[in-house]
Amino acid sequence: MIIFGRFIYSIKIVIMTITTGFDKKYHNYGISQSHHRNILLAISIFAMALVVIIIAYQIFTFGNQSEDTIYVPLTLDDVSSSPIIVLNDELPIADKTNSSCSHFGCFNIYRCGMKGNRLLVYVYPPNEFLDSSKKSITSGMSREFLQILQAIITSKFYTADPREACIFIPAIDTLNQNRIKTIGVSQALRNSEFWNGGENHLIFNMVPGSFPDYNTSLDVSLGKAMIAGAGFSTITYRYGFDISIPVFSPLATDLRTRLHEKKSYLIVSAQININTAFEQDLIDIQAASPKDILILRSCSNHKSMTNSIRCVDEKMLKYPDILRSSTFCLVIRGARLGASVLMEALAARCIPVIISDSAIMPFHNVIDWKRAAIFIREVDILTTYSTLKSISSKRIEELSQHGTWLWNKYFKSIEKITKTTFEILTDRVFPQLARDYNYWNIPAASTSFPPLFLPITAPKTHGFTAVILTYDRLELLYSLINKITQVPSLSKILVIWNNKKKNPPASSRWPKLNKPLQVIRTKENILSNRFYPYDEIETEAVLSIDDDIIMLTADELEFAYEVWREFPDRIVGFPSRTHAWDNGTNCWRYESEWTNRISMVLTGAAFHHKYWSYLYTTAMPGGIKEWVDEHMNCEDIAMNFLVANITGKAPIKVTPKKKFRCPECTNTEMLSADLAHMAERTQCINRFSRIYNTMPLKSVEFRADPVLFKDVFPEKLKKFNSIGSL
Ligand SMILES: *[C@@H]1O[C@H](CO)[C@@H](O)[C@H](O)[C@H]1NC(C)=O
Ligand SMILES: *[C@@H]1O[C@H](CO)[C@@H](O)[C@H](O)[C@H]1NC(C)=O
Ligand SMILES: *[C@@H]1O[C@H](CO)[C@@H](O)[C@H](O)[C@H]1NC(C)=O
Ligand SMILES: *[C@@H]1O[C@H](CO)[C@@H](O)[C@H](O)[C@H]1NC(C)=O
Repeated sequence: MIIFGRFIYSIKIVIMTITTGFDKKYHNYGISQSHHRNILLAISIFAMALVVIIIAYQIFTFGNQSEDTIYVPLTLDDVSSSPIIVLNDELPIADKTNSSCSHFGCFNIYRCGMKGNRLLVYVYPPNEFLDSSKKSITSGMSREFLQILQAIITSKFYTADPREACIFIPAIDTLNQNRIKTIGVSQALRNSEFWNGGENHLIFNMVPGSFPDYNTSLDVSLGKAMIAGAGFSTITYRYGFDISIPVFSPLATDLRTRLHEKKSYLIVSAQININTAFEQDLIDIQAASPKDILILRSCSNHKSMTNSIRCVDEKMLKYPDILRSSTFCLVIRGARLGASVLMEALAARCIPVIISDSAIMPFHNVIDWKRAAIFIREVDILTTYSTLKSISSKRIEELSQHGTWLWNKYFKSIEKITKTTFEILTDRVFPQLARDYNYWNIPAASTSFPPLFLPITAPKTHGFTAVILTYDRLELLYSLINKITQVPSLSKILVIWNNKKKNPPASSRWPKLNKPLQVIRTKENILSNRFYPYDEIETEAVLSIDDDIIMLTADELEFAYEVWREFPDRIVGFPSRTHAWDNGTNCWRYESEWTNRISMVLTGAAFHHKYWSYLYTTAMPGGIKEWVDEHMNCEDIAMNFLVANITGKAPIKVTPKKKFRCPECTNTEMLSADLAHMAERTQCINRFSRIYNTMPLKSVEFRADPVLFKDVFPEKLKKFNSIGSL
């Protein structure tokens, strides 16, 4: 390049002499010297052309000049002989970690996509950094960190060229907070060649925090850099920006399991660093059933500091092999939130039981851990035994199979963990190509392609949220709550407290449950509160139920939920009604008679998709919602109209149950009120159909009952044997 530069320079000089010569001659000889003039003109045109060509060539080569700079792909064969860099005090000081970084605030998306929709990752060449007192700022490079770098440079994500890279990885081992000098590392990062405030840099960390604070995030000044870290808490984790990775366990990688291991214990606890607050709890849990529960501790008599043995009294057991002999393995909050036992349990086919409220699970933004682990809130730790004991063997099988699948797919090696991290970043950087829930969570063999493009059945593991609208009938509410908690697929109860005048009871006065219950106090007593798409509803399925519907059995509700999973776009429930054309009045009529057809299922006891709640709240046409709130009636009819208009389908009635009046509420005065109520509902149907400008309700002539429902067959052998009549 340099030689060519000189060449251009010399040609330029030549041209200048020619043109100056021409100027002089032009002046001296004037127009009469036309012969000379033509020659000079030709020469100058030629010279100009040459200049143009040369400039063009120069521009062209300049464009390529930096392309020509060859970046040699990194090799990590001998990192011990990396160049030594001494950090001195004059180097700029580090930029503090921005704790409120978000993908949109701190990440520069414009550095990505240089080669189409590929996430390209650059790894800095490793150096050895010494601080001003000539001490190394890290204790060398750990095997795990070297494996992470190795995994990157051998992956499809790697680029040796920092100009096209989207993500930058400093080759400074920050995996373990205890092995680094915070200031030195901050300084070394800050002075990385492409640092730019930490923009688009990703810092790996598995052990954050150190004695005595045990901070849950790496304590290094990182500016805008992202952390791929373990042990985050809900407070330090920057959602949508950081990536939560597991604490890698070499012990887990070496563990060998058989498919059907004999399980001698129901529960094993084998952590040696759990929070002291839980130690007594563990003893209490064990007292419930000493032969089912094994509590292991570190071996006090054993001299060598090895992590691979545990003790019960004097008996020494091999860890983590002992995990294989248990169905459930406890993962309790320790000094740090990231626990290697999580990975060891998965590897041992032992279902992790997470008792650590604020911990962020590894890759939690794509992995649905409810499919592979049991979560118990810390306050409920004493219910551990009863909760785990009540889990069916089928569910245990599902959980354990799924855990093994997760382990093999995402966690088995440092390489898998690293690749998953970048797959998640790819989804984030190229959202148009992001993979969906099924891609991340459902083993490929079990996802069949739906030929009619109909939705796949909603996964069972999510369960449903029961939303109970209540005013002040506490007795009824409590008995309903006690009843609903017995439904296996219930995930949460949400009580909508619609009474402005009275406070909901103190939390101590509610029934003690083994499922979460949340109370939402509303500002106004309106019926649409029942259909608000509350954030607290974390499942797709919503069971909307009146506080006086206490006659349904757990079997009936569970069965209705099963039916809803088959028809997730419909209202599926118990009280059915129909509409009919009255050719005397030339109007629609609301019918609660027992007929062969139904066209509505009332939301006093019905399942629907949370999406319908969202539409009810935001997209109800023609002031229907306001009318309903004003008249305190017909919210259920409005919901049936809404769903039927969009899907063009009828609702589904389940089981024979027809009578829903609560015994306590009946009295003779109700009768006239009832008639007025019915008349108003007829008006609703006519009003709504005018607003829709059509009658969207569709009728059907079937209902869903469990298989074997009417068969003469021992009750005990039926899956849902408590299905009542009428
Ligand atoms: C931290 O990041 C946010 C964007 O996510 C930005 O608004 C804020 O100014 C940053 N704070 C500092 C101190 O740089
Ligand atoms: C832990 O975090 C606190 C506050 O963020 C900080 O002041 C402290 O220096 C950190 N301690 C360690 C050991 O990292
Ligand atoms: C109106 O009702 C009568 C008696 O039920 C029936 O015979 C007649 O066909 C109905 N007319 C129409 C147009 O449906
Ligand atoms: C009824 O559904 C149709 C088709 O989805 C839609 O275009 C129309 O706006 C809906 N009507 C009302 C009043 O919401």
